[in-house]
Amino acid sequence: MKGHRDTPLGDLDQWEDDLLRRYPQDESKSEAHFVATNAAKQKEEFRLYEAGARASVKEFYRLNHRYQTFDFVQQKREEYLQLNKRRMSIWEGMEFLNTLVDDSDPDTDLSQIQHLMQTSEAIRKEGHPRWFVLTGLIHDLGKILCLFGEPQWAVVGDTFPVGCAYSDRIVFSEFFRENPDFDHTEYSTESGIYDRGGGLDQVFMSWGHDEYLYHVVKEFLPEEALCMIRYHSFYAAHREGAYDYLMNDHDREMFGWVRTFNPYDLYSKSDVPPDVDGLRPYYEDLISEFFPAELDW
Ligand SMILES: [Fe+2]
Ligand SMILES: [Fe+2]
Repeated sequence: MKGHRDTPLGDLDQWEDDLLRRYPQDESKSEAHFVATNAAKQKEEFRLYEAGARASVKEFYRLNHRYQTFDFVQQKREEYLQLNKRRMSIWEGMEFLNTLVDDSDPDTDLSQIQHLMQTSEAIRKEGHPRWFVLTGLIHDLGKILCLFGEPQWAVVGDTFPVGCAYSDRIVFSEFFRENPDFDHTEYSTESGIYDRGGGLDQVFMSWGHDEYLYHVVKEFLPEEALCMIRYHSFYAAHREGAYDYLMNDHDREMFGWVRTFNPYDLYSKSDVPPDVDGLRPYYEDLISEFFPAELDW
């Protein structure tokens, strides 16, 4: 499948591995890195990152930026947000995601469940609340979109608002020139179809695993958890400070949680695989504290 038009990445994790190139661990030590870094330096870092990006990653962003239009997002919301694809438990969702076979190396790469547990275990070790640990465990389950046949560029990748101008702080923003919305009369203005300061709840985000999972779990988790799930790939906002003009004060407060979550997502990958079977009882218990036996996906 490698090199197929819709699958430029060897596997889905390649996007996340690439995020580590863009946001190396040392820089993230200050949670407010994006606020503190001066704009010129930031631009230069971005330019260097883009110049060194792998061809497959670049092609992935080219497709993502070309095809994530306002209409595409509406079409996917229509298709998925009725949540009538499956009925299954959270654990079944994890096992389902684990069936995602790709071109990654089975000897060196961790399974999807192992990735999720590394994130949640890193959160647990630092004594965070139970809902936060659970959020780490489930935050990428929306990647099952791939198993429903969605192309990589509609499952992973940085997310961003559609229906208003694409920020130049989105990675490879020059590829948006190929997007039909780029010179759309209404969608190309700074606030587009939205009210300035009207809050992110009014905003349609590009389609991917974040938005989908948010809708699956929104009845069951605290607001802070939902914000982490819904916006964890919105790097232009939580790492680069873009789109502040769409947010309200409540969003700004909630994004503190998204930033707290981000290092666990990016930097918890170690070579020691977690003991999935041994940890399962703890996590089954945690899941049942918040979720019903089955959910609509
Ligand atoms: Fe994710
Ligand atoms: Fe993740």
